[in-house]
Amino acid sequence: MLTGRKLAYASSFRPINIGDSLIWALEEAVGVGDVLTDPEVTVGYGTPWAAADGVVPRAVVRPGDADEAAAVLRACAARGARVVLQGGNTGMVRGGVPASAGEVVLSTARMNAIGEIDRESLQVVVGAGTTLEELQARLEPEGLELPLDLGARSQATLGGMAATNAGGARAFRHGTMRRHVAGVEAVLADGTVVERLGGVMKDSTGYDWPSVLVGSEGTLALITRLRLRLRRIERSRAAALVPVDSLAQGLALAVALRDRPAGLEAAEFVLPGTLRLVCDELDLRPPFDARILVLLESRAAAGAYELLVEALGEHPEAEDAVLAEGADAVGLWRYREGTGEALARHQLVKLDVALPLARLADGVAAIERSAREPAPSLRPFLFGHLLDGNVHVNLGDVPDDRHEAVERAVLETVLAHGGSIGAEHGIGRAKVAWLPADRSPADIATMRALKHALDPTGLLSPGVLFKC
Ligand code: FAD
Ligand code: MLT
Ligand code: ZN
Repeated sequence: MLTGRKLAYASSFRPINIGDSLIWALEEAVGVGDVLTDPEVTVGYGTPWAAADGVVPRAVVRPGDADEAAAVLRACAARGARVVLQGGNTGMVRGGVPASAGEVVLSTARMNAIGEIDRESLQVVVGAGTTLEELQARLEPEGLELPLDLGARSQATLGGMAATNAGGARAFRHGTMRRHVAGVEAVLADGTVVERLGGVMKDSTGYDWPSVLVGSEGTLALITRLRLRLRRIERSRAAALVPVDSLAQGLALAVALRDRPAGLEAAEFVLPGTLRLVCDELDLRPPFDARILVLLESRAAAGAYELLVEALGEHPEAEDAVLAEGADAVGLWRYREGTGEALARHQLVKLDVALPLARLADGVAAIERSAREPAPSLRPFLFGHLLDGNVHVNLGDVPDDRHEAVERAVLETVLAHGGSIGAEHGIGRAKVAWLPADRSPADIATMRALKHALDPTGLLSPGVLFKC
């Protein structure tokens, strides 16, 4: 006997391949409209950010909540269909896109509800598919914000940012995503739903799911909802573009401002080659020539501009700085945030590394030197988050057969300087081969044991973090 829903389904009857019981089961779980199989549509979900081409997944399924997601994962588990979890698909290490046409993409796009703001604890529960921009727009009229920002704010989801432990420009001041997640609801590969969203400020009742799942890159569970810690917005904003002659000089300036009440909220750097590319590609007037750009931003309840002027006034090396406040301050960010757009037009070796601050300047110089050894004619485009020691290494004109050698040269240099091969973008599939260079065999074996315990058949995010 067909039920009401199936009746509706019948009215829009269309031939389906009965053999593909998976598609049938997925439609049962979420409804016909949220199972996509048209390759012209699904290829978009199979294509990494800024990539020319991608993989057409077996299907894209969009559950609306944890229960629907649980039904989807059970249906996939029953048929051995591997599942790639996808939020905004702005990830940089190919963790949220399929590697083969047999995989199903589970998109969190429909899980974008924003709950009531808990003003006492300054927290809010949101759907994992909510974008950063949507959340900030909801919070702004309340004088609140999530103190994290990244250039992909209009597309990156809070679930994806939790899964990658995203950082961004304000992480040195407020921490990475890990610090902002107070609770999660998640679905395991077998459809089990775990949830700790209560929001009690003290909770020592066994394993803390945010600690386990933040940074797990979709390998342990699907995050469906998050409880996030918020803060009051400081509405006064000012920024400065400061040309410096060395990264060491730029770092010293940023450290000086960080350690004094200047309300420093961001300290970014862009090396000359990258600044030239951004200005050429985006048709911007270069703020200055052949010098390193340091972008500093201050925020305060009031008087951020005066705070910044006073702080920079004590640093003769900053005398050529260009300052702006309010909306004009946002304009100065174009030189930094334009990197994403400008670099997306080029084929690049992309690496995201972190160095101890005390070794940042030497480390960056060594990275540029070592990268050139296997590929002397490459073009380096470096920039990043200064006070995190987070360097985004983008290398152009690298001959295809030199890619691996160049990656090895850079990552070995980073490790030799006490750094990390994965600062904020994660490992995904792109860096799996390098993980053993940075994490010990015991570390990796323990991570594998945790993965096996929660996902014994390897259903979720195959090939992410670990070789299959
Ligand atoms: P996706 O790309 O969809 O997925 C990323 C990973 O998370 C995948 O492994 C996926 O399987 C997993 N995942 C996604 N959703 C879930 C979920 N609900 N449950 C479990 N696993 C899930 N990153 C920074 O850290 N700092 C920056 O400053 C920054 N700037 C950027 C600027 C630009 C222009 C772009 C394009 C990207 C930038 N990124 C930055 C990278 C990216 O935005 C982040 O990695 C972000 O966290 C990815 O979120 P997403 O929703 O797009 O995730
Ligand atoms: C950024 O800080 O702009 C990003 O993390 C993105 C990138 O590396 O391109
Ligand atoms: Zn970054």
